[in-house]
Amino acid sequence: MNLKVCDNKEEIGRCAATIFASQVLRKEDSVLGLATGSSVLTTYAEMVKDYQAGITDYDFITTFNLDEYCGLSPTHEQSYSFFMKENLFSEINIRSENINFPDNENLYYDSRIKKAGGIDLQLLGIGHNGHIAFNEPCEHFPYNTHTVALSDSTISANSRFFKSADEVPKKAVTMGIGTIMKAKSIVLLAYGKEKADAVNKMVNGKITPSCPASILQLHNNVTVMIDTEIFNELH
Ligand code: GLP
Repeated sequence: MNLKVCDNKEEIGRCAATIFASQVLRKEDSVLGLATGSSVLTTYAEMVKDYQAGITDYDFITTFNLDEYCGLSPTHEQSYSFFMKENLFSEINIRSENINFPDNENLYYDSRIKKAGGIDLQLLGIGHNGHIAFNEPCEHFPYNTHTVALSDSTISANSRFFKSADEVPKKAVTMGIGTIMKAKSIVLLAYGKEKADAVNKMVNGKITPSCPASILQLHNNVTVMIDTEIFNELH
């Protein structure tokens, strides 16, 4: 794992967007794996700036998002489709037919990714309990895209976006750990000391499905970008 320590979330966003810009410049029909959550917001803002500055072009780019809540329509303000539209897709020239989200046809998501040539660059955040996408701590690493019951800790963390925890969907569809591990390169972003424990377990802990992100130690091209608050807590 490459560890890049940045001053703050703004610098994380600039660095991550630079990695995306180089990917898109190197391969105009790149397949990008995208994530939602607060950790990726500064990256998307910088990617939009790069597009507006004429540095990047998304005309031939295909995207596959990591996950989506079950039971929310794409127009629901808390759906991940809505998040992506608001923060990235409506601001760049990506074709709507090249945007993919996992849905109930879980089995086909992995084959659609394969058919597209595989994910060149995957963006990830990390949950407080070490989850990636919606792969929650469990007994084994789930392989393919699948439906999951969200853990109480994830429901409570994500309830900040809803009126109450009761409104947070209890299930989601997510890329599996195998799906994520097949990406050719991965960038994971985390900032703020409340993520320090999860990052520490991911980077220094034992590889175990009780910290799903720990599997990334076995991937040969992962860059973890953290801020100094997390770095100071690593041991
Ligand atoms: C959700 C998403 C994850 C994301 C995580 C962390 O559970 N499914 O993909 O990494 O939240 O979100 P945040 O960046 O807001 O802390």
